[in-house]
Amino acid sequence: MRRGLWAVSLAAGLAVGLSSLPTAAEESVDIRLLAGTCAGCHGAELQGSGAIPTLRGHSAEYIRFMLTAFKSGERQATVMNRLAAGYADSEIDALADYLSSLQ
Ligand code: HEC
Repeated sequence: MRRGLWAVSLAAGLAVGLSSLPTAAEESVDIRLLAGTCAGCHGAELQGSGAIPTLRGHSAEYIRFMLTAFKSGERQATVMNRLAAGYADSEIDALADYLSSLQ
């Protein structure tokens, strides 16, 4: 049941991702520093490795949806729940815009 709900909300999140264009990320040193903390696990190029997924090639909506789901605990994970809880919604928005610009 919970798994079904997750699939529905994931589909909804992806549909939103397809229907709206990501806003262009502002190139700033701050966002690179913020995203730099992700590189420790997701790889120097944020390309992922082994069990750790890539952060490249996703829409801003996908990244935002995932980080918000980690933060709320809606998606259970090993480390991302604790990590995402440390970011303000505005930082999640900035990360989503920046990471989507890397594709
Ligand atoms: C301590 C290691 C670590 C750090 C640091 C880290 N991640 Fe992750 N990330 C993971 C792991 C492991 C997963 C797989 C889910 C899980 O088990 O937590 C993941 C999954 C994700 C996913 C889901 C991708 C997908 O397609 O399922 C996103 C999005 C994500 N991380 C974004 C970030 C961002 C943005 C940062 C930096 C702010 C970050 N992560 C920092 C380890 C890390």
